[in-house]
Amino acid sequence: MPKIIDGKAISAQIKDEVKERVAQLKAQGVTVCLAVIQVGADPASSVYVGNKKKACAYVGIESLSYELAEETTQEELLSLIGELNKKDEVNGILVQLPLPKQIDEDAVIRAIDPKKDVDGFHPQSVGALCIGQPGFVSCTPAGIIELLKRSGVEIAGKECVVIGRSNIVGKPMALLLLRENGTVTVAHSKTKDLKEVTRRADILIVAVGKPKMITKEYVKEGAVVIDVGIHRNENNKLCGDVDYEDAAPICSAITPVPGGVGPMTIAMLMYNCVNSVSLQ
Ligand code: GUN
Repeated sequence: MPKIIDGKAISAQIKDEVKERVAQLKAQGVTVCLAVIQVGADPASSVYVGNKKKACAYVGIESLSYELAEETTQEELLSLIGELNKKDEVNGILVQLPLPKQIDEDAVIRAIDPKKDVDGFHPQSVGALCIGQPGFVSCTPAGIIELLKRSGVEIAGKECVVIGRSNIVGKPMALLLLRENGTVTVAHSKTKDLKEVTRRADILIVAVGKPKMITKEYVKEGAVVIDVGIHRNENNKLCGDVDYEDAAPICSAITPVPGGVGPMTIAMLMYNCVNSVSLQ
């Protein structure tokens, strides 16, 4: 049977490391503060935002909460971001996505000072990652690298296949695996013969957004499989993009859903927040 990569335990370990660093900074008179902005009251977003604020409280990061009405204009949101950019006591700014349709997400992402871009979504952060310079890295892919490293999975020289090419997961994931000297392929909805591509992978990162799509036919014997998806199945139970029961027996290691990649995103957000102090 495969090794089950325990994202809950690894994320707890990272949050405790961050907590220690926050305490050390506090002893030097330095506080860390994250501004969290939510526009509208999408229930899923409210859960994520609540969990982010809880994690801040746990590690000792101060959080400022901005809950804006659904009909907030782009101008109003950009003006708030402008104010937060200027405030020295605010180290990180996070605007929860998705945003209501009257607001251009790209314009909002570009408005955040790259020195406070703890989500790592600003074009400058993505560009820095691309050319190997310091900057914030998108939390979910950064968390996956930590899962692999802390589970003793070697990346250098390995065939790595990422399914999905989103700006938040797939593209930064590919860049991070490349930075770790993996041989990287990005597959997507237009890929011909997906199974042939994914069966080459020593490390398979699945971010397709379709429940249980990846069965054992897509997986090479002994591969490490990382499942980024999170869905509710017909019985209201959480499941991933990978058909876990089917694929797990042939993997050498696999992340479960829940308790795999999910908890890592917030842990890495906390990590980015504490690092923001040294970037500023
Ligand atoms: N919506 C879904 N995931 C994320 C995330 O990581 N950051 C932000 N800001 N919004 C999200």
